[in-house]
Amino acid sequence: MEALRCESLTKTYQGGGVPVHALRDVSLSFAQGSFTAVTGKSGSGKSTLLHLLSGLDRPTSGSVIYQEHDLARYNDNQLSVLRRRRFGFVFQSYNLVRELTARENILLPVMLDGRKPDEGHLNRIIEVLGIGDRLSHLPGAMSGGQQQRVCIARALANKPAILFADEPTGNLDGKTGREVLTLMRTVSQELGITMILVTHDLGVAEQAERIIRLEDGQVADDSGEGEDSITASGGNFIESEISRNKRSPQCGVAPIETAGVIP
Ligand SMILES: Nc1ncnc2c1ncn2[C@@H]1O[C@H](COP(=O)(O)OP(=O)(O)OP(=O)(O)O)[C@@H](O)[C@H]1O
Ligand SMILES: [Mg+2]
Repeated sequence: MEALRCESLTKTYQGGGVPVHALRDVSLSFAQGSFTAVTGKSGSGKSTLLHLLSGLDRPTSGSVIYQEHDLARYNDNQLSVLRRRRFGFVFQSYNLVRELTARENILLPVMLDGRKPDEGHLNRIIEVLGIGDRLSHLPGAMSGGQQQRVCIARALANKPAILFADEPTGNLDGKTGREVLTLMRTVSQELGITMILVTHDLGVAEQAERIIRLEDGQVADDSGEGEDSITASGGNFIESEISRNKRSPQCGVAPIETAGVIP
């Protein structure tokens, strides 16, 4: 089943009068539960692709389709609800709120959504990530690896359908980076989360099932091309939302259509 796809995705930045073609006519499909690495030289369009796929930015043309819904049809508010409930993000810079403890940072997206955390799920993530003894610490009192693990826990706290990661191990030493990546994969696999990971590091990329290489804003190589990943979604978004809510009532997830995400 398909988790996400983009069709003819194009992004042109108008910088100082000279247009920058960051992404040109990119069409990709990501299978549910798959783990894809996006590689390419600096400036090849990796972050741009990730920002568009995750609804953090809007394309110049082309579309991003999540569960048969074109993200272009969502207004900014609907998009932020969708992102908070369905997508998780891990960036190279840790982006933790410095005044909040690790635990408060992890819970922030769930709280912002006015929901109760699923304690069993949280405890499992905290255990796998090995940050149980750091929960009352402020980010400033944690190492880079520990902060990144807190970011991963925060991204997974909502049980996202898709985890987007942009150079999540870029600021860590090789060994810590590999450990963090392994943890991210372990939790994602357990939960059936689709992972899309941007990395310069070929050693990191090789751990993925599929490697996409961008060059100059276009797909230069795609190891998953021609595979069964380009299948139409059999799922109905609203039905899956409702059954998902029934499955995890402790999360108290309001059906997404009542939040106005479905126009
Ligand atoms: N906000 C922006 N305004 C103008 N140009 C931009 C903007 N963001 C990105 N670009 C340009 O778009 C191109 C692609 O940038 P992008 O950040 O996607 O590359 P990247 O592959 O993620 O690079 P890196 O590996 O260095 O992070 C680059 O030429 C970049 O300078
Ligand atoms: Mg980048």
